[in-house]
Amino acid sequence: MTKKIILDCDPGHDDAVAIMLAASSKEIDILGITCVGGNSGLNNTVNNALKVCTLIERTDIKVYSGANKPIHYELFTAEYVHGKTGLDKKGDPIIVDTNYKPQEKHAIDFIVETCKSSTEKIYLCPTGPLTNIALSLKKDPSIKENIKEIVFMGGAAMCLGNTTPSAEFNIYVDPHAANIVLESGIPLTMMGLDVTHQVNVNSKIIKSMNENKNKSSKFFGELMEFYTIFHKELYETEETPLHDPCVIAYLLDPSIFSGKEVNVRVEENSELTRGETVVDWLGVTKRPVNCFVMNEANDEKFFQLLKAKLSLLP
Ligand code: RIB
Ligand code: CA
Repeated sequence: MTKKIILDCDPGHDDAVAIMLAASSKEIDILGITCVGGNSGLNNTVNNALKVCTLIERTDIKVYSGANKPIHYELFTAEYVHGKTGLDKKGDPIIVDTNYKPQEKHAIDFIVETCKSSTEKIYLCPTGPLTNIALSLKKDPSIKENIKEIVFMGGAAMCLGNTTPSAEFNIYVDPHAANIVLESGIPLTMMGLDVTHQVNVNSKIIKSMNENKNKSSKFFGELMEFYTIFHKELYETEETPLHDPCVIAYLLDPSIFSGKEVNVRVEENSELTRGETVVDWLGVTKRPVNCFVMNEANDEKFFQLLKAKLSLLP
């Protein structure tokens, strides 16, 4: 059964791989890509989504521009990770055809209208700050009826944050949006740092992907060469977590991951812990379960899947 998805993202090197993984899979029907300010400003994230779809020859995929900042806070970006374009890389630049432009319709209107009109339930797959998703739910709460599941990359259950000691980037950028999603009652699956730090790219993985001998795998390698720089500098290791593709890999093969149904809430205001996902793993608060939080990943199965799927692209 094909899964109909809306991929909401802030490309971003790992978002780009999530787009490639979804687009390569006949099991997934990408109804649209919606972009949000996050890793870089909104213009960059939209342009980067257009670049990725151009490279993989999927300019049939419609790209929508969404929120350029979080609900309450100013936008905090991650150029220190993704470069000034948000998708800096070695190799030739990707030239986007002038006819391939973002849609006129706003991402939030697209999400609402698509959820309301779809004949089957839709998967929302956010891999950036949750602003577009939250504002769509605020605009028309009835869309919940037609959302099968929200599988999101964000948060950290029992590991350190990557933006502050207690917060992961996507949730740090827009903690208010995260709580709107967490309080929605929609089936939620969280791919946090606990699990994404178990699927790490390194030079061996890049070499393996290049055995596909296609331009998409070469593009993967070029992206990862740049993306690993930050991790080498910050974490003194070339092991670089591939956060966002975990969302798509979960849709394709849930057996790659395992976790637990728990309560998750997010700190919105504290100067010290803004964006912390407070994950009640032991159930001590007795707060109702609202999220399936992943904490284990089979990286071998993940990279086997990714290599096989990248080989299906041009
Ligand atoms: O913390 C990692 C997440 O923040 C990833 O989605 C990355 O692309 C950035 O958006
Ligand atoms: Ca992202």
